[in-house]
Amino acid sequence: MNQKKVVVLGGGVLGTQIGLVCAYHGYDVTFWLRSESSIGRTTPKIERYSALMLEDLAKAKALVGNPMGAYYYPRGMVKDWNSATVESIDALLETGKKNLTENVHIELDPKKAVEDAYIVIESMSEDPKAKIDVYTKFKDLLDEETILVTNSSTLLPSMFAEYTGRPEKYLSMHFANTIWKNNTAEIMGHEGTSKEYYDKVVAFAASIGMVPLQLHKEQPGYILNSMLVPFLSAAQGLWANGVSDPETIDLTWKLATSAPAGPFAILDIVGLETAYNINQMKPNTQIEGTIENKIGKLLKEKIDKGETGVNAGKGFYDYTKK
Ligand SMILES: NC(=O)c1ccc[n+]([C@@H]2O[C@H](COP(=O)([O-])OP(=O)(O)OC[C@H]3O[C@@H](n4cnc5c(N)ncnc54)[C@H](O)[C@@H]3O)[C@@H](O)[C@H]2O)c1
Repeated sequence: MNQKKVVVLGGGVLGTQIGLVCAYHGYDVTFWLRSESSIGRTTPKIERYSALMLEDLAKAKALVGNPMGAYYYPRGMVKDWNSATVESIDALLETGKKNLTENVHIELDPKKAVEDAYIVIESMSEDPKAKIDVYTKFKDLLDEETILVTNSSTLLPSMFAEYTGRPEKYLSMHFANTIWKNNTAEIMGHEGTSKEYYDKVVAFAASIGMVPLQLHKEQPGYILNSMLVPFLSAAQGLWANGVSDPETIDLTWKLATSAPAGPFAILDIVGLETAYNINQMKPNTQIEGTIENKIGKLLKEKIDKGETGVNAGKGFYDYTKK
């Protein structure tokens, strides 16, 4: 077993970010991808996120000595901000650049990909069938000691443990988008996860610059989304009921709590399609006149106009204006 070998299953938005952060912190990372065409989609993501990570790290030099710096530096990339200097960040940039190039590999062969791996991180599409297929495929290929974690946002590890062939070494390690800045790792086992392997995953998360946030039992939505989803729904309800407009709702939240962003700015980051999908899972969406029905219609109108959030340049706010 190679204690430094990390394998990421899935080269999508989150898989790429997770693999790169591991590589940055000195792990030898292999992305297992399904096909040549997956390589064509993942390679540009690897390049883009590597460049963004290094750009954010370079920008942090200007924050050294600034009391606001502690809020804006890439928290997953600089372990001790209090002692950071321009020179120490330059040194991180140099090793970071090298690690992001030399420690990143792509492999299509499942057996070769996971050989000797310390930990395998599954970050494939949020589709139970795809996850079961892949666990079944890898079950007999993993070393006995290899740890297997899932980054699933909405599915519980107990749903899949039986397909992994290693239920005691299987649990969730859930990241947030742009993980090199938003460095949370929510660690959640199922009833059959062993304490020894749970603790190993906590230590691993810390070693890649994350703050391990430990859940003591299974919870759909973990800690973050258990709070965030109802918060965003409440804000959308105020808007859909005509109580107030997105700008005023955001302003209220920001002024009263000193938060840097309000719920509609957060919705723009999450993306309106995701917000719409979450809303449509609620039971009342098809009943005319309910708040969920009104929210669904309003979000759909914006989605149909292409106003899906920050990535589209426009959502509740316009991001094309400088
Ligand atoms: N996007 C987010 O903000 C976010 C945040 C935290 C966690 N997550 C979780 O991370 C996981 C991945 O999300 P994402 O946003 O990166 O998705 P994505 O759509 O960007 O990527 C999914 C990847 O899975 C691959 N894939 C799908 N089915 C496959 C199969 N059968 N075999 C092999 N590869 C397959 C796709 O080719 C793609 O590379 C999901 O479980 C999601 O819940 C996402």
